[in-house]
Amino acid sequence: MAHLSGILLLLFLTAVASKSISYDDPVFGQPEQIHISYGLDPSLMVVTWITMNPVNDSIVEYGENGVLNQRATGNVSIFQDSGTEKRREYVHRVVLRNLKPGHRYSYHCGSDVYGWSPLFWFAAMRNDSGFVVRAAVYGDMGKDIAYSMPRLQEETQLGHFDLILHVGDMAYDMNSDNARFGDEYMNAIESIAGYIPYMTCPGNHENAYNFSQYTAKFSMPSSMNTFGGDANHFYSFNVGSAHIIGFSTEFYYFTEYGFDQIINQYQWLEQDLRKANQPANRARYPWIITMGHKPMYCSNSDDNDCLTTEGYSYVRNGLPFVEAYGLEKLFAQYGVDLEFWAHEHSYERLWPVYNSTVHNGTKGAYIDPDAPVHIVTGSAGCPERHDPFGIPRSWTAYRNNDYGYSRMNIYNASHLYLEQVSDDKGGKVVDSMWLIKSKHGPYSYFE
Ligand SMILES: [Fe+2]
Repeated sequence: MAHLSGILLLLFLTAVASKSISYDDPVFGQPEQIHISYGLDPSLMVVTWITMNPVNDSIVEYGENGVLNQRATGNVSIFQDSGTEKRREYVHRVVLRNLKPGHRYSYHCGSDVYGWSPLFWFAAMRNDSGFVVRAAVYGDMGKDIAYSMPRLQEETQLGHFDLILHVGDMAYDMNSDNARFGDEYMNAIESIAGYIPYMTCPGNHENAYNFSQYTAKFSMPSSMNTFGGDANHFYSFNVGSAHIIGFSTEFYYFTEYGFDQIINQYQWLEQDLRKANQPANRARYPWIITMGHKPMYCSNSDDNDCLTTEGYSYVRNGLPFVEAYGLEKLFAQYGVDLEFWAHEHSYERLWPVYNSTVHNGTKGAYIDPDAPVHIVTGSAGCPERHDPFGIPRSWTAYRNNDYGYSRMNIYNASHLYLEQVSDDKGGKVVDSMWLIKSKHGPYSYFE
């Protein structure tokens, strides 16, 4: 009998060993790459995550005071990478509704069958004028040499920020190693993006396969109140006293994906800016702030894209020869206050500028300036290292080549504060400015 039980035990162990568990086993459906993003109004928050295997359920359990007494379901879509391995990932997207503005919620995501994520928390959006918006703003952060990541993570966990604006270029590149670089990056930012909305625009490093991983994995809001896909290229939302627009400069450079994208985006931008300038809307959300990846102006020596004295900026001037669909005039016509850019791996603060001419305010450069203020902030860390500066331009106010990121506080209708954090100098603030406006709207040459 003892002999028989020994044989049975051996057979059992052999069976277990032959059923070696692999990563492809459907039992592994635990969420990863968890991040949240704003919807179009404060009652909404979108939770997005990835499973590596087919999981049909997309559930978020959430609630106030650490009690997960509410449950929302969403949908799953397939991201098929176009690399040689044709890897598939499963993108889960759940929209939380009826949130109370400013209230803090805990949540986890996953499914009853395949398991749940760790516990995260967030504060629901506020777009009342009394809300002081605190954002971190940066571009060009890779999965490796992400110098700003530890400090951003710490600041997020300490509650210093309400949201992130990532001004394009991430992972370097998301499609590398059959999309695994994208996976690693999205997992790396989870310690930030799981807690505060991670609002993005695309950069040139997301361009592979028509930006497929970027459009699949993020969930920016469309004006139709759907999330992700094309909306990740251009969208807008209101927070505090600001109307914030994310858009793609890359449509102007990757025209193999279609010229119509430039036209569609331009028309949408014009429509969005017109609506934002309707008196009631501009009074409620006086600040109009844009973010796009490739700058209209810079003084770096190695990039002709934004050296507009010698070169030609597609984004600023429009398509070559026809000079159509340029954005500088459009943005100034509708009184855009502040424009964030990246792509240059450095920080540059510009004097208020329009048509290569500085238009400082009469009581101070940034007090009621007569042109938009441009900030180039693309130094959060990537394997390509820094971009050197050339000769300063007339619009150059301050520049710095340390790794780092920007902080923006929007205090009220008239006062907005910006500062630049240097990671090379242990988190020291190396630049700061107040933008003060007694009125918002088109600049004098358009009135
Ligand atoms: Fe770039």
